[in-house]
Amino acid sequence: MSSGELVKTAKAMVAKGRGILAADESTGTIEKRFDSIGVKNTEDNRRAYREMLFTSRGIGDHISGVILYDETLRQRALNGTPFPELLASQGIIPGIKADTGAKPLAFCKGETVTEGLDGLAKRCAEYYTLGARFAKWRAVITIGAAGAQVPAAIPSATCIWANAHALARYAAICQAQGLVPIVEPEVLMDGNHTIEQCHEITEWTLSAVFDALYNQRVTLEQIVLKPSMVISGKDCAAQAGVKEVAERTLAVLKRTVPAAVPGIAFLSGGQGDALATAHLDAMNRLGGSPWTLSFSYGRALQQAALKTWKGQATNVAAAQAAFLHRARLNGLAAMGQYQSGLEKKAA
Ligand code: 13P
Repeated sequence: MSSGELVKTAKAMVAKGRGILAADESTGTIEKRFDSIGVKNTEDNRRAYREMLFTSRGIGDHISGVILYDETLRQRALNGTPFPELLASQGIIPGIKADTGAKPLAFCKGETVTEGLDGLAKRCAEYYTLGARFAKWRAVITIGAAGAQVPAAIPSATCIWANAHALARYAAICQAQGLVPIVEPEVLMDGNHTIEQCHEITEWTLSAVFDALYNQRVTLEQIVLKPSMVISGKDCAAQAGVKEVAERTLAVLKRTVPAAVPGIAFLSGGQGDALATAHLDAMNRLGGSPWTLSFSYGRALQQAALKTWKGQATNVAAAQAAFLHRARLNGLAAMGQYQSGLEKKAA
C-alpha cells in the first residue's frame, strides 16, 4: 500500500458522520459478555454473534470500519463469505486487533504494559493479505486514588513511557506493512479519582505518546487516535456533567494532538450507551477542532444488541435493529446532531 493509500484509509475511517465498531474482543473478553446473557463461549457462537452484527442492513451508513479479533478475521458468514469481504462489500474497512494484551509491568504494582511487538511485522503482512487495512493496539493506564484497590501514586512514569514506546513501535511497524495504526492509550475510568486527576493524567499520557510517535518516525497523517475521554472516575462521588467532560477532553486534545492527525475516534470505556453518545455530540457541538471527532466504541455500540440477541436465531432481527439504532445515533453525534429524545425510539 502506498503512503497515499494509508492517508486515504485513515481519512475514510473518520469520515464525517461515520465511526468504528470495536468488535475485537479476545476470546477471554467475549466470554465475559456471553456470560452476561447466558451464552456458551464456543467458536460458532462467537461467529454467529459477529455475523448478526455485520449483516445488520444499513450499518455501512454509520460504520466506517470494524476492528476484528484474529479468529474473526479468518471466519466466514454462513453463506461462505469471509467476514472481511462481507464488511468490504458494505463499504466498511476491516481492521485487526494487533496487540496480545496488557500484561503486568515488572516492578510497577497495579500497572500493565501492552505486549505483541515480537513477530508483529510478519503478522501485519498476513493480516493485509486477509483483507485488513488498519490495526489497533490498546495501552492501559490506571489512575490510583485514596482508598482504591491500586497504589495511590500511579500511574508511574515507568508505565506511561513503556506504554507510549510500545504504541509507537507498533504504529511504525503497521505503517511499514501498509496498515493504518489506531493508537489507543486508554486512561481507565475505573476507580474513585476526580475528573481533575483524569485531566492531568490524560494530558501526560497523550504528550508522551506523541513524543514517542515522533521518535519512532510515525507519519501522523496516517494514524487514527483512539483516546479515552476526560471523565470522573466511575466510583468518584462527584460526577462531572456532559459539558465539563466535553470541554476538558477538547482542552487536553488541543494541547497534545497535532493538527496533522486526521481524526480522533473515542473509546467508550464503560460509559453508559446514551452518555457516550451525548459526550461525543457535545464535543462536536463545541466545534473548532482541527480533527474529525468520532467513535470507536465496543460496549456502547454492542450492549443493547447483545442483550437482545441472547444467542437465539429468533432474536437476530431485533438485535440488529438495536445495533443499527446505536450506530445511527452515534453517527449523528459525530456530526453534533444527536438529541436525547431520539433515545426513546430505541424500543
Ligand atoms: P469500549 O468502547 O467498550 O471501551 O471498547 C473499545 C475498545 O476497542 C477497547 O479496546
